[in-house]
Amino acid sequence: MQPVESSACQRAPIGLLAELTHRCPLQCPYCSNPLALEGAGGELTTAEWQDVLRQAARLGVLQLHLSGGEPTVRRDLEEIVATAAEAGLYTNLITAGVLLTRARLEALAASGLDHVQLSIQDVEPANADRIAHYEGGHAKKRQLAHWVSEVGLPLTINAPVHRQNLDRLAEIIAFAVDVGAGRVEVAHIQYYGWALANRAALMPTREQVKRSAEIVEAARERLKGILVIDFVVPDYYATWPKPCMGGWGRGIVNVTPSGKVLPCHAAETIPGLVFDNVRDRPLAEIWLHGQAFEKFRGTDWMMEPCRSCDRREIDWGGCRCQAFAVAGDARAADPACVKSPRHAEMVALATREAAKPAPPFVYRRPRKPASPATAEST
Ligand code: SF4
Ligand code: FES
Repeated sequence: MQPVESSACQRAPIGLLAELTHRCPLQCPYCSNPLALEGAGGELTTAEWQDVLRQAARLGVLQLHLSGGEPTVRRDLEEIVATAAEAGLYTNLITAGVLLTRARLEALAASGLDHVQLSIQDVEPANADRIAHYEGGHAKKRQLAHWVSEVGLPLTINAPVHRQNLDRLAEIIAFAVDVGAGRVEVAHIQYYGWALANRAALMPTREQVKRSAEIVEAARERLKGILVIDFVVPDYYATWPKPCMGGWGRGIVNVTPSGKVLPCHAAETIPGLVFDNVRDRPLAEIWLHGQAFEKFRGTDWMMEPCRSCDRREIDWGGCRCQAFAVAGDARAADPACVKSPRHAEMVALATREAAKPAPPFVYRRPRKPASPATAEST
């Protein structure tokens, strides 16, 4: 396969996050999808996704993350996986797991699927199903996890953690071992979109966060060679921010169900950005020259304290979406950073919210409820 242009390949993203659909049977209150979910009618067709994947491979992308919503609601998932495999992409299916049958999993593996990432809400079934707003979901996930191992695919358990499940972190890690996962991602919630709307219901106490770090540390030691544990620390109690997305326009490109190309899944929360669509412009051109990508790529856009900071090429100023959400300016230092003038305010806010009783969840829902006919079929 010929590269698009060598300079494009040198600057290529390593990963493509393909949001195949925003449809999902679950309603997690921390969903990373936007508040304004895209409907089934505007989704890219099979041929359009196949073209995007071939373009991505030519650009130099190595890993394809098939995401949603719930990607398995697309009946053409096997065709999409097969095209990705032919193009040489490593394919990771990010799934909530409640719709997959064993036969379909086998079909996906036969089409070239490389890896499954299964999200769980808790290990206590009633609480897991309450968080997902889907009865019987946890039992199906446990079943799927065993099938993944039996089919011979590597499995990662993705466990978003927050004040309403964090006290069972040791059991969550034990679950991952029990179902044969090689990796677990213990991910403190990042507050954008739905999670921001549910921040008070999700925010852990500092004590819970400290304890979670200790549990992870001890488990890493105990489970060496058995389970890899990734740990996403919570921004609101951090000292330094994370290099969100590996740096804006550096590591990851995100394509929405309708073909909009975003530097990160929450980029649409930032006003003033222009998002090109793969229906109108080649992916490589968007990645290299799109307004939204150029806006915060590198360090030229930075203001103080980032501009003169010696960590500016380590964390790239942290998260643009969080800077906008908390500081009201996407060019500001991420308030997770101790050097940000908004840092103390952010910590105080987290402490205050975590101390109060958790309010009810605002569940993820499309603006207009999908009819049963469109909810589970493409
Ligand atoms: Fe990162 Fe900016 Fe904070 Fe420096 S001042 S550590 S570049 S967010
Ligand atoms: Fe958008 Fe961090 S989520 S830059």
